[in-house]
Amino acid sequence: MSGESDFPVFPPGFLLGAATAAYQVEGGARDGGRGESIWDRFSHTPGKTYAGHTGDVACDHYHRWREDVELMAELGLRAYRFSVAWPRVMPEGRGPVNPAGLDFYDRLVDALLEEGIQPFVTLYHWDLPQALQDIGGWPSRSLVGYFADYAATVVGRLGDRVRHWITLNEPWVFAFVGYLEGRHAPGLKDLAAALQAAHHALVAHARATDAIRALVGEEIQVGIVLNLNHVDPLTDSQADIEAARRYDGHLNRWFLDPLFHGRYPEDVLDLWGDRAPQVEADDLPGLPERLDFLGINNYSRSVVGYRKNPPLDLASHRPEGSQTTDMGWEIYPDGLYQVLTRVHRDYRPRSIYITENGAAFPDVLQPDGAVDDLERIEFLRSYTFAAHRALEEGVPLKGYFVWSLLDNYEWAHGYSKRFGIVYVDYPTQERIVKASGRWYRATIEGQ
Ligand code: FCB
Repeated sequence: MSGESDFPVFPPGFLLGAATAAYQVEGGARDGGRGESIWDRFSHTPGKTYAGHTGDVACDHYHRWREDVELMAELGLRAYRFSVAWPRVMPEGRGPVNPAGLDFYDRLVDALLEEGIQPFVTLYHWDLPQALQDIGGWPSRSLVGYFADYAATVVGRLGDRVRHWITLNEPWVFAFVGYLEGRHAPGLKDLAAALQAAHHALVAHARATDAIRALVGEEIQVGIVLNLNHVDPLTDSQADIEAARRYDGHLNRWFLDPLFHGRYPEDVLDLWGDRAPQVEADDLPGLPERLDFLGINNYSRSVVGYRKNPPLDLASHRPEGSQTTDMGWEIYPDGLYQVLTRVHRDYRPRSIYITENGAAFPDVLQPDGAVDDLERIEFLRSYTFAAHRALEEGVPLKGYFVWSLLDNYEWAHGYSKRFGIVYVDYPTQERIVKASGRWYRATIEGQ
C-alpha cells in the first residue's frame, strides 16, 4: 500500500510542512560575514565526520534560497521549519550583530509569507558560535544570557512576521552526543559537562522565552523541540524493565519533567548522584508556564535491556526481524503513536507539533531522472497514519513536519545519508522531487 493517494486526512488548519536546519543546508560558510561554528571546527577536524565531509557548501541554500522557496510552493507546503545560524547573526556569539546575516533570514521569511507558507523558526539547531565554545560552551552558565540576547536580536527583526518560534532543537542530543559521546560537535566526553550543558539549555530556553515575550507579547507562540522515543524493555525480566525505565528517565523524562512539572525526576537525579548538574533555585519552577507548544522529533523507538555498564547499566538492541532505515533505525510507527499519547496523558502540553519525522534510504537517481523512493512513501504513510490515530484520541496535535525538505548534511554522517523528499545532486546542486515528494504534495492537496 504505497499509492500516491493513500494518506490520512487531518482536521482543517492542520499544518503539513517540511523541516531543515541551517548547518545542514545553507553552505555559504564564509559568506556574508558569518562566523565560525562548532560544527565548522568539528567537521574540519580529521576523523570526526564521514569521509571528512563538512557543511561548507551543503545544499548551497544560502545562495539558492529563492529557488528552494519556489520548490516548497510547488510541493504545496503549508509550513516550513528552518533554523537561524547563530554565527551568521552574531559571528562571535555575543556583541556585534552582522546585519547581512539578519537580512538573509528577513528575505527568506518574506518570500515564504508571499507563498502562504508559515515559517517556524528554530533559534538553535546545534551550530554554536565557536567563540562561545572557546569560553566553555553550554556547560558554562554564561551561555544562558548570551542565548537570550541572541534570541531577542533575531525576534526583534523577524518577530513582526514569524508567529512560531522554537528556542532549541533536541537538547538531549546536543548535550549528550556533543559533550558526552563526542560523536557530535564539540566532541567532548565528559558526563558532568554534558549534564550541566543540558541544564543550561533548559534555563536558556526559559530566559529566551522571557526575552521573546518582552518584545512581542502573547500573540506569538514559543516552544522547544525534544527528541522523544517510546522505550520498550528487551524482555519482560525485571532487570530489563528497570533498564527501560532508566533509559526513559534519561532520554524523555529528564526534559519533560522540568518543562511541565518544574523539577527533575528523582530516580534519574539519584542515578547521576554527585555528577548531577548545579541548579539555582529559580531555574526550573517557572518553566511550565512558558511553553505554548511542544515540538516532538521522532524517528524510531528504543529497545533496551540490562547490561552492567554504569551509570545507566543498559544496552540498546535492535529487535530481531525488525525493518530499519539506512541509519539502522527501526521502523516502528506505533512508537510515534505511543509517544504522542503518553506525552498528552502525563504532561498535557497545550499544543504539540511533530517537528521532525522521516527516514534515510539509499536513494538512486535513475537514468530517466526519477527517484522512486517507495520505502520512504511507506514510512511517511505509516507514521502520518500513526499521528492521525493519536489526534483522533484527543492529542492536541497541530502539525507535522517531514524531515527533510532536501537531502542534506547529516552531521557526522556527512552526505552519505539521504533524508529528503527532494533529491539533491550535490555536484550540480540540482533538486529533483522524489516519488515521496509527489506523495506528500498529493497528501497536502487531499486535505
Ligand atoms: C535529528 C536532527 C536533525 C536530523 C535528523 C535526522 O536528530 O534534529 O537535524 O539530523 O535527526
